[in-house]
Amino acid sequence: MLLWTMMNHLIQTIKIMKRRTPVYITILIIITIMIVIYYMFIQSGIFFTSPYFLGTVAISIVLVLIHNSIGDLIENDKFKKLTPEQQLEYLQTKKVPYFKALYNDAFKKQTNTEEKDILIDHGFDGIMELDNQLPRWWLGLFWFGVAYCIIYMIAYSFTDFADPIKEYEIEHKEQIASIEQWMKETPPPTIENAVYSADNIAAGEEVYRANCVSCHNDGGKGGIGPNLTDNHWINQPEKTLFKNIFHMVENGSPNNPAMQPFGKNGVLTGFDIQNVSAYIYHINQEIQPITPEQGGAAPQGTPANWEKQ
Ligand code: HEC
Repeated sequence: MLLWTMMNHLIQTIKIMKRRTPVYITILIIITIMIVIYYMFIQSGIFFTSPYFLGTVAISIVLVLIHNSIGDLIENDKFKKLTPEQQLEYLQTKKVPYFKALYNDAFKKQTNTEEKDILIDHGFDGIMELDNQLPRWWLGLFWFGVAYCIIYMIAYSFTDFADPIKEYEIEHKEQIASIEQWMKETPPPTIENAVYSADNIAAGEEVYRANCVSCHNDGGKGGIGPNLTDNHWINQPEKTLFKNIFHMVENGSPNNPAMQPFGKNGVLTGFDIQNVSAYIYHINQEIQPITPEQGGAAPQGTPANWEKQ
């Protein structure tokens, strides 16, 4: 009885004698996994030529080949134990190209008799459940996901791989460098081509705080220098307000050396002047003036009648 069961078991295993994965596929998979691992830990392509990478690849290929030869021996051995029909059947299945077989396998449907075997003994309203095997492609993906997750977690914990702070710092540095590059290559705006843009107001406010607030006071309400929020202007060398501001910051005041030529002196660049001019334009045109009642300096000069931009 025992012998019979054992025989039966053997026959069963022989019956499902599996097709073997071609050795080149195994080698490809292993090399891919190794590239993924190396990349996660080294994070650049330089490992491709490193002796460690090439060495481990070579060792793995040798191991795979050894494994494959052992597989050949086992296959031959098992094959001899098959009945002639089974041998024929096995040879037949072996003839189907590997990827075709994989495809067939992935979308295989069981026959009605097979279905009976995997019918689970519960159902409701005629709806039955089959104990289907998970599709191979799904299982493959699942195990790949598990392996990837483990490698990823190790790489994430012990190396710089996918470290958001490191990545941020690198990107930040690159962007600063590219801004500097841009500034170097782009000629600074001049009074001829400078334009007002609301985008420059914030940067202009910074320039104002650093260079102008000591004389023109908070929000441009005036102090040593005139109130910049009202419509009275001492100096009106240009026809439009924006150009007039640019002109004054670039060239300074002809009457009062306190208002120095920030542009000509090299204190501010054309970019700074364009920005600070946007800020002054903004506080002069787009928000309410700061009147003497509100603490602003009394108007100086004459009312201006600016042309549109
Ligand atoms: C040391 C004090 C001082 C600083 C700093 C200063 N200004 Fe002035 N600013 C003045 C004075 C004084 C005048 C008036 C000049 C005159 O009477 O012609 C003036 C005039 C001006 C005018 C023309 C106003 C008008 O009515 O003609 C503008 C625009 C102006 N300043 C913008 C700026 C900006 C922008 C900055 C910063 C980059 C700045 N100023 C920094 C003192 C200063």
